Amino acid sequence: KAYHEQYRPQIHFSPQAHWMNDPNGLVFYKGVYHLFYQYYPKATVWGPMHWGHATSTDLVHWNNKPIALYPDSLGLIFSGSAVVDVNNTSGLGKNGQAALIAIFTHHDQAKEKDGKNDTENESMAYSNDGGNTWTKYAHNPVLKNPGISDFRDPKVSWYAPDKKWIMTLATKDRITFYSSPNLKDWTKESEFGETLGAHGGVWECPDLFPMTAADGKRIWVLIVNINPGGPQGGSATQYFTGDFDGKTFRPNNTATRWIDQGTDEYAGVTWSNTGNRRIFLGWMSNWNYATSVPTKAWRSAMTVPRELKLVRVDSAYYVASQPVKELGNLKDETKALPAIAVKGEVNITKMLNRSDNQFQLNLSAKQLKSFSITLSNGAGEKLIIGFDEKENSWFVDRSHAGESGFNKDFAGRFAVKRIANTAGTDVTLIVDAASVELFADKGLTVMTSIFFPKKPLSNISISSADGFSASGISYSQLKSIWP
Ligand code: FRU
Repeated sequence: KAYHEQYRPQIHFSPQAHWMNDPNGLVFYKGVYHLFYQYYPKATVWGPMHWGHATSTDLVHWNNKPIALYPDSLGLIFSGSAVVDVNNTSGLGKNGQAALIAIFTHHDQAKEKDGKNDTENESMAYSNDGGNTWTKYAHNPVLKNPGISDFRDPKVSWYAPDKKWIMTLATKDRITFYSSPNLKDWTKESEFGETLGAHGGVWECPDLFPMTAADGKRIWVLIVNINPGGPQGGSATQYFTGDFDGKTFRPNNTATRWIDQGTDEYAGVTWSNTGNRRIFLGWMSNWNYATSVPTKAWRSAMTVPRELKLVRVDSAYYVASQPVKELGNLKDETKALPAIAVKGEVNITKMLNRSDNQFQLNLSAKQLKSFSITLSNGAGEKLIIGFDEKENSWFVDRSHAGESGFNKDFAGRFAVKRIANTAGTDVTLIVDAASVELFADKGLTVMTSIFFPKKPLSNISISSADGFSASGISYSQLKSIWP
């Protein structure tokens, strides 16, 4: 179904109607990417959580499916993950077919009202038809709460050396690792992070996986979402790098790092069962104002799916993100511009002789200098994305990018220190009706930002007061993913 509402994303997943938050149960099976999500099907604000469901064969076009999991007597269905039980460790496979297993948090609101601590327990559901329909396991929960108020968002993965499952669980101010031979019986292995990383809020939605850098170095990455306490205020996705031996995570770095340093990426985690690719998806909002943004029929969208890479800078390894290559399927026509030197302002829209509601802009430079890209419309609204050489920072300025009265901190300029140390840069901007995603320096710096303009910001200009040369600019219109 095509969408024509104001602010409706055309190249990002959003629910047809009502409230959505975290991506859940990301799993790839037999050519299909499953996306489940925190969903309240009765209002456009958070409420009793279900798992909504959509599927895709290319990560960009999505089919809406019926709700996969409904709340029950054990509680609401909070965030979690899904795996393919290839070896039938659970015994839930049928006719030689692997079961898909979802592991999620049951959140008991009645207990919460009674002031109890053990409101959150981990439960399981399985699918014998490739993820279409789901049955809750008869003996839920599979992991009982030991008395910790925040005990949720299990991310399960197979640890091949020990032939066991690992559950990475957010437990208030730290991560607790559990292991299991069969997804049903869980043993505590260790805790991590009580005194490391950002602690401005509750730890939520973790992920754990190994990555290999281009130089062959293998490192474990531990993602920990946090709310509040993010670099721009509110919610954000931090990560740690280190080693994991099936029991304990040992960090090799103590700096706090973020997968996305903008205002609007949260609860980001990765798909399971994708082989050597590591594909990440986040919720494109911020708990600071998610329930009051000015969309009518629905609230929130997901980011574009991103492929993660481990990249070395000096002696440290960072996680870099780029839009998945499948996003290229949406490109209509790509126009390349010759090298241009900018002093003052250059109107790109005029040079391209076109303007679109959704597009991708790539720009590279041999020598990074202060410059900015301004997206604007005829209604006097503008969004400015750029680099400040004095501050050595990338920034997104949405001070005048549209409606912002719903939250006092929404309008503003948000900046982050550059991570890369190269002379040159490359920048990719993905612009949709109400969002921009900036991937700078080969994805070492990522900033996602939502905004609510009266009309699309489809005019593009590049400015530089002191002078800046772009060695290449290419622009592609992106076709809507909705039929
Ligand atoms: C993160 C989160 C999770 C929880 C879910 C509830 O945004 O708070 O920790 O499982 O949302 O909807």
